[in-house]
Amino acid sequence: MNDDDAHSTSRPLHILIVGAGIGGLSAAIALRQQGHDVEIYEQSKLSQETGAAIHLASNANGLLRRLGLRVEDIGAVECTHVTEYLPYNGELKYQIDVKTIGDKLWAHPWHLVHRAHLHTALREMATGPDGKGNPAKLHLGSRVKLADQENASITLEDGTRVQGDLLVGADGVHSRTRVSIPGGDKKPFDSGKSAFRFLIPTEALASDTRTAAAVAKPGSLTMWIAEDRRVVMYPCLNNTLMNFICIHPSKESETDITGGGWQETGSKDRMLDIFKDFHPSVKAIIEKAEEPKLWKLLDMEPMPTFISGRLALIGDAAHPFLPHQGQGGGQAIEDAVSLAALLPLGTSPDDIPDRIKIYEECRFERSHKIQEFTRTAGKDATELAKEGKKLDMMEYQLYNFNHDAWDYSKNALQKSLEAQDPKTRFRSPLSFGPSPGPRRPLGLDPSHPTIQALRKSKPETSTNYSVRFKSSRTYLQNLLPPGFAFTSPGTLAFASIMCTTLDGMTWLGGGGYSYCGLYIHGVNYTKRDGSKIYGTFLSVLFENLADPIITGRAELGMPKLFADIDVQHHGEGGDCSISLSWRGELFGKVEISKLEKEERAAVNSVGHSEPPQGGPGPPPSPPEQGLFCYRYVPAVGEPGKVDAEYAVFLPKAEPQPSADPSETLATKVASVKFEAGDWQSLPTLHNIVKGLAEVPIYGIEEARFTKGLGVEDLTAAKRVE
Ligand SMILES: Cc1cc2nc3c(=O)[nH]c(=O)nc-3n(C[C@H](O)[C@H](O)[C@H](O)COP(=O)(O)OP(=O)(O)OC[C@H]3O[C@@H](n4cnc5c(N)ncnc54)[C@H](O)[C@@H]3O)c2cc1C
Ligand SMILES: *[C@@H]1O[C@H](CO)[C@@H](O)[C@H](O)[C@H]1NC(C)=O
Ligand SMILES: *[C@@H]1O[C@H](CO)[C@@H](O)[C@H](O)[C@H]1NC(C)=O
Ligand SMILES: *[C@@H]1O[C@H](CO)[C@@H](O)[C@H](O)[C@H]1NC(C)=O
Ligand SMILES: *[C@@H]1O[C@H](CO)[C@@H](O)[C@H](O)[C@H]1NC(C)=O
Repeated sequence: MNDDDAHSTSRPLHILIVGAGIGGLSAAIALRQQGHDVEIYEQSKLSQETGAAIHLASNANGLLRRLGLRVEDIGAVECTHVTEYLPYNGELKYQIDVKTIGDKLWAHPWHLVHRAHLHTALREMATGPDGKGNPAKLHLGSRVKLADQENASITLEDGTRVQGDLLVGADGVHSRTRVSIPGGDKKPFDSGKSAFRFLIPTEALASDTRTAAAVAKPGSLTMWIAEDRRVVMYPCLNNTLMNFICIHPSKESETDITGGGWQETGSKDRMLDIFKDFHPSVKAIIEKAEEPKLWKLLDMEPMPTFISGRLALIGDAAHPFLPHQGQGGGQAIEDAVSLAALLPLGTSPDDIPDRIKIYEECRFERSHKIQEFTRTAGKDATELAKEGKKLDMMEYQLYNFNHDAWDYSKNALQKSLEAQDPKTRFRSPLSFGPSPGPRRPLGLDPSHPTIQALRKSKPETSTNYSVRFKSSRTYLQNLLPPGFAFTSPGTLAFASIMCTTLDGMTWLGGGGYSYCGLYIHGVNYTKRDGSKIYGTFLSVLFENLADPIITGRAELGMPKLFADIDVQHHGEGGDCSISLSWRGELFGKVEISKLEKEERAAVNSVGHSEPPQGGPGPPPSPPEQGLFCYRYVPAVGEPGKVDAEYAVFLPKAEPQPSADPSETLATKVASVKFEAGDWQSLPTLHNIVKGLAEVPIYGIEEARFTKGLGVEDLTAAKRVE
């Protein structure tokens, strides 16, 4: 189940589980599969598992399947029908085809399984040699006397003390570990009802004319419900055994109970007496019971919390269940799987207290809500009427079945980790969590070893070609969005075509791409308070890879478009030629010749020396502070309306030693040419390239070539206001 390979070298957690019931064993399996070292301490010898069956509805059965257990292989029977008879005259009240309904609604079937077979299978999966992870160690006859929630340690009756990273209290309704939770010293109490439980071979019922009708429909959960007592019957073990629960007021069988355990033997005569008014067919059924067990149905006040320090309670230890919704075992399995989902291999022991807080958030409300449904479902009709409560079985079933504790908890963990990392970035699509990108390579922190290794094996490099030329302010100012103006009062303006090829980009797994854009210099932006920022405006940027186009448009508001970009530069001196095209249609060409070495000079944000200042004429323009662009996001379905529209500013970066050009060449021999084609040849770019083609070029100022290590990730880009 482990899918966090980034941490595959971390040590497994040492997890101690108290109790090897359905909850404890399920937890052992799920945690073992996550790669942890698990030890289970069980008071009994596990030799006398009771004969009884339990429900595994879609919500629990799906989890067992995920763990690798298909209960149909161990004799589970699919529940196909729910049938209710009137208790006294034995008439059919209703029969629902739950399989036909369920197959349309639930991803996993509703199974009825013999408890002993389920328990044996879980034990084998937890402790056997097969399966993912290391087998859990099961210590039988090891009764836990004390649990220390701060140190995740337990003391056994014989005085042995064991310490782990996490303690899981799965010790059932009479839990010992529960008292270690502050405010958790709760005692289960008699709910007012008790149950006789027994199994009868299906054949014995089918071959008796008085009882044959009741077992005619295989796969049926069958009930006879009277005011304050009911008989519930369902099949298990490949349909060879019928499981019975005969619920009745505790006070009518009280005298027979000596202890409080599961194995209490009841009196058959007492049972027959309690159900004496039921239809003869029902009495004929229960007459066949041999040694019915008598089981007091215990309830308990809700725990204030399931966790403390390094202790997490699961199953009946956390929330003892009445049997009326068949969810007691299922909720124990959900708890177990939820806990494991929150502890992938690589979880540090220090993280455990936080992780089990998420466990509690995932489980507390749901298990208590199902418990409340269960209580309501077990109430007598007059009791319900008195309390004004309604029994909406469909609502209960939808809530109970509609859950996958693994998926739910994985998502809760993901959301929690995201919330803890302020640098997490989200982009569309949102469905798959945070998106990696240039400003969050591989979705990891820059100090992560994977990033470091990539950078070391292949450093990021950039090669820039730029051509700065004289142009017309009166033309270029038409390209400026609202708020922008030229700084200089005259009609002479400066612009550059700049192309860059990148390689070794960490965020692209070591690959590269190219881009090329029109930059308009000498621009200012007036803020609402009248103050101004000075810089260069990026009007359009072509890139030859979708990923930076998407991230740049979404995260930086940059005007990025796709084009093929071909850079021909042989020998790195001399001449170079850059072509821009779209589906084979060439629309732009930049040619630079006679590049020569020059003295390293002050370089501005787009790779040019500052223009000479002072002398006669207009006052010198303020120095450029960075790069502008303009975000524009149209509203869906409302042409002309916007979701976002604002100026973005990227302050000029402090020169970084690593980004220093290792090589700089310059020349005055260069040309820039755009050809707009038509709407057929450049259907989506024609308007843009037409605009570029019309940019007047009154003379080349300078062309430059620089090559160096490192590229800015533009994290500093911000909305102006
Ligand atoms: C024998 C039995 C029969 C059941 N029959 C039904 C049924 O027919 N229908 C139904 O709906 N529900 C039944 N339940 C309840 C239902 O199975 C539970 O809701 C569900 O099993 C909860 O699982 P659990 O693992 O939390 O607790 P349990 O299954 O109760 O397991 C707890 C385990 O912890 C062990 N333990 C307890 N104290 C200590 C200690 N101090 N040190 C070490 N080990 C300890 C116990 O021996 C036991 O093995 C039964 C439970 C049991 C134990
Ligand atoms: C149930 O039946 C299947 C096949 O019909 C068989 O393989 C399996 O052993 C049976 N299980 C039990 C517990 O009898
Ligand atoms: C548990 O840890 C605390 C410190 O957190 C320590 O003071 C205490 O002695 C420990 N208890 C046991 C039983 O080891
Ligand atoms: C900046 O822009 C304004 C237009 O709002 C313009 O009038 C002004 O001269 C520009 N230059 C400077 C130096 O602010
Ligand atoms: C090339 O330009 C980019 C900005 O587009 C810049 O981040 C990079 O440092 C420049 N590289 C060199 C070697 O000048």
